[in-house]
Amino acid sequence: MGDFIEIAVEKIRQQVGSKRVILGLSGGVDSSVAAALIDRAIGKQLTSIFVDNGLLRQNEREEVIKLFNDHIPGKLRVAKAGKLFLGKLKGIIDPEKKRKIIGKTFIEVFDKEVKKLGNVDFLAQGTLYPDVIESVPIGGNPAALIKSHHNVGGLPEKMKLKLLEPLRELFKDEVRLLGKKLGLPDHVINRHPFPGPGLGVRVLRDITPKCLTVLRQADAIFIDELHRSGWYGKLWQAFCVFLPVRSVGVMGDERTYENVICLRAVTSSDAMTADWAKLPDGLLRKISSRIINEVQGANRVVYDVSSKPPSTIEWE
Ligand code: XMP
Repeated sequence: MGDFIEIAVEKIRQQVGSKRVILGLSGGVDSSVAAALIDRAIGKQLTSIFVDNGLLRQNEREEVIKLFNDHIPGKLRVAKAGKLFLGKLKGIIDPEKKRKIIGKTFIEVFDKEVKKLGNVDFLAQGTLYPDVIESVPIGGNPAALIKSHHNVGGLPEKMKLKLLEPLRELFKDEVRLLGKKLGLPDHVINRHPFPGPGLGVRVLRDITPKCLTVLRQADAIFIDELHRSGWYGKLWQAFCVFLPVRSVGVMGDERTYENVICLRAVTSSDAMTADWAKLPDGLLRKISSRIINEVQGANRVVYDVSSKPPSTIEWE
């Protein structure tokens, strides 16, 4: 891997010369490792852009900024565009419409940020080898198609940028190893994947700030308990889903009529197939009771016991 870093750094330097590079940072493993590697190669010529689309998880923006401050000396621009995204998504229920709006708005915001920088020649992406293969949908896998528009698709052509993809020949486990060598912390390297449209496709109705708050709080409790119990690292993905259902409950002497939160936790090696995780009773009990007691607006928790196929990992 040490050799790989030296070779990759040299290759990036040769490809880029004295030109400038922008990178769309999501905070996930791939784009963070790409940023760290390119930073090592060309330092100040790289600017990373993080778009806050208002559909991020609890404290996510702050964590990405901290990651940069602590581990990647490069330049980071943060576009706070939550209001813009939520405005455009108002009243939209259909998942594919949500995805299209989010993808299109992302490009608008990103493009605007890049224009502020002046001359830029390269767009860097954390594309991995499986992404390269998957850009042709295999066996009708919708995630493959989805990825194409999530990964700032259309941007390079529109802005006449050349692509810089230093992770193109690597698999996920190799990227994790590379991240470790580059000094990124374990919590970034071992992070679960998070879809580009974020919580937008985990609120199964029109998206409102209230639903997002309830979902964020519930999700943070779920993830916290998975970390504490040592389960986080055993799972491919785990998250909460906000169901478009209200249910009756009792809190003290009062009748409640509130939202239902679904827990989704799966094991998988590549997201093409996935099995629901057999989380222990005691852990599920703790998570459910914490969510119901601590999150105002949630009074019932259910656990998803569906595997892929035929069910997808995400609900939308
Ligand atoms: P599904 O739900 O199709 O998901 O079983 C497979 C993997 O892809 C992720 N996913 C997405 N990633 N944009 C993304 O960047 C999307 O629109 C999207 N939809 C699903 C999902 O989280 C899982 O890891």
